Amino acid sequence: MSTLDRRLLSDNTAVDDDGMLTVGGCRIDDVAAEYGTPVFVYDEQHLRDRCREAVAAFGRDRVIYATKAFLCRAMAKLAYDEGMLLDVASGGELHVAMSAGVPASACTLHGNNKSIAELRMAISAGVKHVIVDSFDEMDRIDALVAAGAGDVPDVVLRITPGVSAYTHEFISTGQNDSKFGFNLENGDAHRAVDRARRSSSMQLVGVHCHIGSNVFEASSFAKAAEVMADFAIPLDLPELVLGGGLGVAYVAGEEAPTITQWGNVLLDACQSIGVRSKVSVEPGRSIVAAAAMTVYTVGTIKHIPGVRTYVSVDGGMSDNPRPVLYGSGYESFLPRAVDDPRAMSARLVGKHCESGDVLSFEAALPSDIVVGDLLAMPVTGAYGQSMGSNYNKITRPPVVFCAEGDAHPVVRRETFDDLLATDLG
Ligand code: LLP
Repeated sequence: MSTLDRRLLSDNTAVDDDGMLTVGGCRIDDVAAEYGTPVFVYDEQHLRDRCREAVAAFGRDRVIYATKAFLCRAMAKLAYDEGMLLDVASGGELHVAMSAGVPASACTLHGNNKSIAELRMAISAGVKHVIVDSFDEMDRIDALVAAGAGDVPDVVLRITPGVSAYTHEFISTGQNDSKFGFNLENGDAHRAVDRARRSSSMQLVGVHCHIGSNVFEASSFAKAAEVMADFAIPLDLPELVLGGGLGVAYVAGEEAPTITQWGNVLLDACQSIGVRSKVSVEPGRSIVAAAAMTVYTVGTIKHIPGVRTYVSVDGGMSDNPRPVLYGSGYESFLPRAVDDPRAMSARLVGKHCESGDVLSFEAALPSDIVVGDLLAMPVTGAYGQSMGSNYNKITRPPVVFCAEGDAHPVVRRETFDDLLATDLG
């Protein structure tokens, strides 16, 4: 019979006298009453502290927040205010970052298939780096600069170092069989460096790699750093970008290195090999995942004797597709009974019209759970809201930042009219 491992909760959580969980000094029942459920509740100070930890570990202007993990204007502004640059992977992410007041010169543009429009937008706005991913992209940059799209951009080449990280196949990117980057082993990486150096439409300033996401082994990062250092040192370029990918603990028993430990491993590896370039990283998940929990309301509880119990909540795969996509595990608990034993085993499901709509295949929950209870899922701050959908025309949940007893919404709940905003009838 397990109780919730409180280490999975964000830094600034506590339990009120009547047993109700608070985040950033805000009671979860109050937040739910004011903003409805489902709702993404972020511990704002936790976000800031992870940004600060990363900046302390790597240095100012050396941490590039991977906005794909969670992006809204409040988050873009927060990361930028805390001294980070922003990694955007599409024109849309760049638009949101810039509309938050983040200058393009603090953004780097990623993507294995950037469109002409995205490249034009980035070059004319003057992004800090375009992370070039293919020879076809080089053709497009040549054409755009020749057509006067903007100043010659500083570019960083994405390299596939041939290092496999132990993580889910869909989020492993450093191996040779990858759609990303220039392959080191087959010579493409060297050919890309030669071409970029000869080109008058781009200024080569560095090389980049990203071996995968949710990686728990510090040694995988050290290995990639070594391979990249071997490649980068003779090039003598100012920048070496080692990607993101640091894993986080989602369920009890998982242990991930801290951002500080990750920094030590990477920077020690680079130093011992003699890297003189400026080393930067692009963390996403490790900044935002543990900062948030999703709060749902239990709507139905169905016991099927001899089979299992289904507990249904008012969200599901549209606010957290990760269990379905990657088989990812999550914990769940009742904010009114944080430390209660969770003796009941149930399948926690959403409200979507398909059986695959599962949030937790084997959830442990208190056996006195009733319809109407608030149910929380911790560590949902990364790749939940950002990968959400409107499946079944479910409206996307709001995002609320909680700090010092103040809960302020930074993304409102979608309305039915929002569902029609792009529908031309
Ligand atoms: N840099 C690059 C070039 C990336 O492709 C990524 C993530 C990151 C940085 C940030 O990685 P992080 O620190 O967040 O692991 N949707 C998947 C994750 C996909 C990650 C894609 N790239 C998930 O929910 O697990």
